[in-house]
Amino acid sequence: MWKYYNPVDIVFGANKFNELSSILNNKKYVIVTHPEDIFKKYTDVLSGFHNPPQMIITEVQPNPDYNNILLLLEKFSAVKEIDCIVAIGGGSVTDTAKALASFKDNKNLLTEFVRNKQAPQVEQPIDIIAIPTTSGTSSEFTCWATIWDKEMDSKLSLAHKDLYPKIAIIDPSIMLDKPKGLTISTGLDALSHSMESIWNINANPISAMHGIAGAKMILENLPKLVSDLQNLELRTNLAMACVHAGLAFSNTKTAIAHNISYPITIQHGIQHGIACSFSLPFVMRSMKGVNKVAEERLEKILNDDLDNSSIMLLEELRNLEIPLNLNELKIAKQDWDIIVSDAFEGERGKNFLGNKKAFNKACEELRVF
Ligand SMILES: NC(=O)c1ccc[n+]([C@@H]2O[C@H](COP(=O)([O-])OP(=O)(O)OC[C@H]3O[C@@H](n4cnc5c(N)ncnc54)[C@H](O)[C@@H]3O)[C@@H](O)[C@H]2O)c1
Ligand SMILES: [Fe+2]
Repeated sequence: MWKYYNPVDIVFGANKFNELSSILNNKKYVIVTHPEDIFKKYTDVLSGFHNPPQMIITEVQPNPDYNNILLLLEKFSAVKEIDCIVAIGGGSVTDTAKALASFKDNKNLLTEFVRNKQAPQVEQPIDIIAIPTTSGTSSEFTCWATIWDKEMDSKLSLAHKDLYPKIAIIDPSIMLDKPKGLTISTGLDALSHSMESIWNINANPISAMHGIAGAKMILENLPKLVSDLQNLELRTNLAMACVHAGLAFSNTKTAIAHNISYPITIQHGIQHGIACSFSLPFVMRSMKGVNKVAEERLEKILNDDLDNSSIMLLEELRNLEIPLNLNELKIAKQDWDIIVSDAFEGERGKNFLGNKKAFNKACEELRVF
């Protein structure tokens, strides 16, 4: 018995950004994007359109923080009538757009959610059109947003059944300028989403099919792309892999690797995509003999058993210069033990089909310590 759901309209292909003008015809909209100059060319196109945006919000922070979103809500409140928000950027932009869409003219509700940990009281979020510029988070396919509270060292997940973007325009030509480091970290985030959807208590045959396809495509294309960053075909393959990853984990959420990653990002400053991917080989190996269905699905990614696949995956990550042991991660063993124990007790850790004993054994075998 299973259910699968994802309502996002997908428009996919190089230069599909140009379709935005006709989609926005007669709509009242606001653009949310990153502050860097490279994003100006997209806002300029829309500003020159016969139906320009009502406002352009560019003050988005990477890993959007509660205090920053409060300031943006203040600015956003000047807009009186709106049909949709157009989010042009990475996960931080899409997630900021989701927060603005949820809490417009109601910033107290954001505070109650973030600071008082009350369930978000969102009635009807404003529609979002998402145009991702990183192939990583797949926030364009999910109904949740990550809001960081740096002052309190915490991370929250805003979720609402109507927070799925209405349309995702996936244009790989927009991703051609992504630098090498960002290409790697966001590609590995998508790899993590693909794999985490498989060793997941919420997995179903459709999510698993997308998870396997996403992981395979990333492992085949990311190593080639890092030495050929302007290759549109490889960018297209990564963008496609990220669609698969999104269609997979939008139905399952993430699992243990993400739960391990949060303190590593918050306390040790390691980028999200790296923090959630270095543990994938250990988690993969730990699934041997634990759950037959998940094991068979995982074996399809690299066409081998999990002992061999986990070593191959480790090698792939090593070639991408990812830190793979506590020394390289600069994490003390006693801190690691706490991180792992907490992760197994955490909300995402509880989605994991495996167990801590097998995970620790895999860590030892793959020399994490
Ligand atoms: N909502 C979800 O489902 C979900 C899932 C995973 C992660 N997240 C969250 O998403 C955020 C991370 O998003 P991200 O990894 O996409 O990065 P990001 O949006 O934070 O962007 C990182 C940096 O890359 C730059 N950038 C973006 N696109 C570029 C391009 N095409 N060329 C050059 N530079 C570019 C941005 O200006 C920014 O400085 C985190 O807060 C994470 O927790 C959300
Ligand atoms: Fe992630």
